[in-house]
Amino acid sequence: DFAGLIKKIEAGQDLSLKEIERLLASENPLEVEALLAAGDKMRQKTVGDVVDIRGGIEFSNYCRKNCNYCGLRRANTSLLRYRMTPEEIIKAAVEMRKLGLSTVILQSGEDPWYTEEKMVEILRGIKSETGMRITMSIGERPRHELEAFRKAGANNYLLRIESANREVFKLAHPDDDYDVRVKNIRDLKELGYVTGSGCIVGLPGQRPEHLAEDIVFLRDMGINMVGLGPFLPARNTPFENLPPGDLLMSLKMVAVARLVLKHVFIPSTTAMATLSPDGLKRGLLSGANVIMVNFTPTAFRKSYEIYSNKAVVTLQWAVDLVKSLGRKLPPYIKETA
Ligand code: 5AD
Ligand code: SF4
Repeated sequence: DFAGLIKKIEAGQDLSLKEIERLLASENPLEVEALLAAGDKMRQKTVGDVVDIRGGIEFSNYCRKNCNYCGLRRANTSLLRYRMTPEEIIKAAVEMRKLGLSTVILQSGEDPWYTEEKMVEILRGIKSETGMRITMSIGERPRHELEAFRKAGANNYLLRIESANREVFKLAHPDDDYDVRVKNIRDLKELGYVTGSGCIVGLPGQRPEHLAEDIVFLRDMGINMVGLGPFLPARNTPFENLPPGDLLMSLKMVAVARLVLKHVFIPSTTAMATLSPDGLKRGLLSGANVIMVNFTPTAFRKSYEIYSNKAVVTLQWAVDLVKSLGRKLPPYIKETA
């Protein structure tokens, strides 16, 4: 039964694919509540009460891919495109450092304008001027480039599988190859990156059994950071008229990811905040332990429109939320009154 499955995980035993599906498929309010509470309890036990706060710079919204859900897809000609120069990116990282942050996330579409040489220049500049940990989230790159980035100071890399199920993946990614994506994630692990992956919840054709496959994929790949969020419709994309993903299903995914993967970093994502005013808070109460704050220069922010009406998570808002939940701020964040 349901409670027995939660006890089984808490006792350190692996669940089967079917058992994980059973947890995710439940729509019984009491079961769902118990699952989210168990995710929160496992979060407390494995990573404690500190909520890590990381800053993201969305430095380019150009993309060579055409993912059917994403507003940055290359066929979207109504989006105003921008690229930040290496100097602008380094300057934004310096500003973050001044506010106490210790990890910068460099995020962009798949933009070949940033060649290996340019990215290495950016990474070296940030390292020498701030000493921050650097997380990259710039899509698929050849292994030799990933290796060069690692040598230039990149520590972490986020590359979501989006869906571990081949059919669901194919339906959302007209120009992506599932096996290439998996190979890229393996490369990251082999090169010593702290490796992030994750999924979109609520893609067309996706059912609880597919979400269970996602959890098993993340477990089997040895993923260290798990980004999960609901699908949100983006204007001027093939999926613009589809309904958004379900908040409770997204929260169940956070809880099950925490229960199954245990000692990992799980952000409560901007997509959760966009779907519901208390979505990000509920993620933190279901197993998540990271908040990503937006440090993209304001002039560019509204153009990084991966989906419509994207929420902006600010540092002050994140700090206040962590305090209101009685959770702990990391030592590098200067306490404001
Ligand atoms: N809805 C939800 N998530 C999206 N992403 C991109 N477009 C959407 C959307 N419409 C996510 C993808 C990508 C991350 C940067 O944003 O998972 O990996
Ligand atoms: Fe490009 Fe990433 Fe959007 Fe796909 S999800 S279109 S790769 S920015």
